Amino acid sequence: MKNNDIKPAEGHLGVMIVGCGAVATTLMTGVMMVRKGLAKPIGSMTQMDCIRVGRGAAKQYLHYGEIVPLASLDDIVFGTWDVYPQNAYQAAMYAEVLKEKDIEPVRDELERIVPMPAAFDKNYAKRIDGTNVKCSMLNGQCSIPTRWEMVETLRDDIRRFKQEKQCQRIVVLWAASTEIYVPVDEKVHYHLSDLEAAMKADNREKVAPSMCYAYAALAEGCPFVMGAPNTTVDIPAIWELAERMRVPIAGKDFKTGQTLVKSGFAPMIASRCLGLSGWFSTNILGNRDGLVLDEPENFRTKEVSKLSTLETILRPDVHPDLYGHGNDEDTQYYHKVRINYYPPRGDQKEGWDNIDIFGWMGYPMQVKINFLCRDSILAAPLCLDLCLLSDLAARAGRYGIQRFLSFFLKSPMHDYTRGEQPVNHLYQQYTMLKNAIREMGGYEPDEEID
Ligand SMILES: NC(=O)c1ccc[n+]([C@@H]2O[C@H](COP(=O)([O-])OP(=O)(O)OC[C@H]3O[C@@H](n4cnc5c(N)ncnc54)[C@H](O)[C@@H]3O)[C@@H](O)[C@H]2O)c1
Repeated sequence: MKNNDIKPAEGHLGVMIVGCGAVATTLMTGVMMVRKGLAKPIGSMTQMDCIRVGRGAAKQYLHYGEIVPLASLDDIVFGTWDVYPQNAYQAAMYAEVLKEKDIEPVRDELERIVPMPAAFDKNYAKRIDGTNVKCSMLNGQCSIPTRWEMVETLRDDIRRFKQEKQCQRIVVLWAASTEIYVPVDEKVHYHLSDLEAAMKADNREKVAPSMCYAYAALAEGCPFVMGAPNTTVDIPAIWELAERMRVPIAGKDFKTGQTLVKSGFAPMIASRCLGLSGWFSTNILGNRDGLVLDEPENFRTKEVSKLSTLETILRPDVHPDLYGHGNDEDTQYYHKVRINYYPPRGDQKEGWDNIDIFGWMGYPMQVKINFLCRDSILAAPLCLDLCLLSDLAARAGRYGIQRFLSFFLKSPMHDYTRGEQPVNHLYQQYTMLKNAIREMGGYEPDEEID
């Protein structure tokens, strides 16, 4: 390893996960099984990928951990918050992502992970109905705490966890349900002082519970990762806090099934200068995430995130002859995304894409993609990478929006107030990721062919 500027990854890394559902329990169980040598961390870039460093005769391919100091899986300590009181073993069994034989060997460890009460407001996820929620006692009655009380109790939770588990560092990851869509409001969300005032005034319409988690994490100096499509990390007030506290922040929405395919396939259309007249994507999904997304207001949040993927890859403003067909307000070509809740499938989502393209002299063609994936199996390695790389970024002195993590995210953070465009193209995102690791490792960033 060349670079000594990065603080070493010494001691325990606390990974505090908001939500103890399908994704969180698949991540935790997988990490514990890998630690015991009973599973392989398939799909995790930090555990499996090799990056070329150096050129010509000096070139070599190294694992991430050989280039930069990453926390070891053995040093990870998990904690969680959830609306339901079930421990992580019970939650993993309920999720039915993994078979019992892949959960039992780490049952004891999972049982010891009991969710802390959630900072929750049912208006943000109407289909969720649990009792393990934070309370503000008023005349002997339990009522929802104010947004500022949520922040303060979450900060206490983080501090207590860090001390009890003797963690050197903490990363907070949102893997909880998608909240209803909260449009960005300049008066509340642009400046930190306005956001704090809204929290203190208990403005429940403009301040989502997820914003309280993000605020609490950053205020405690912990990197925060938003895995759902919530607008939480899209607001300049949260960027301001991340910069003030010099803490990394990343989001949003894990790039797993259909969007992963989309951001990998759309570059093929673009690179060959083929035209696109429409892209229709639909899914069936039967887990609790699917149940929450069956609520139109929650689906709206997901839809906005999923639609954004093609916008910067297939651009009608640059190629009107190729991508100016159709009348969709944002993209010109027709781009539709649907998610249908269908309980028999559980976590085993099925996605269909119908892509109407055209070629030489405008002749039409179709591509059909049928992806039978497993949502949480694709999400778990991303969560691990996002946590380890956010922790790395913090130790490397990086703070604010972590653009190099766009590779893992459906709707990457970008400063739209300055007209910045996000990078959605999977292979450009991969180059950004590799170059960030090279740079942090003291190697020259480059774009040579591997
Ligand atoms: N699995 C994927 O491929 C994928 C991809 C992209 C994004 N996501 C997002 O990741 C999130 C988690 O997905 P999942 O399949 O694990 O869902 P899940 O429903 O199994 O788990 C989410 C958990 O969050 C809890 N929760 C809701 N609000 C909370 C709050 N305010 N505080 C604490 N806990 C809260 C719920 O009780 C539930 O147990 C969802 O938002 C989903 O949209 C998943």
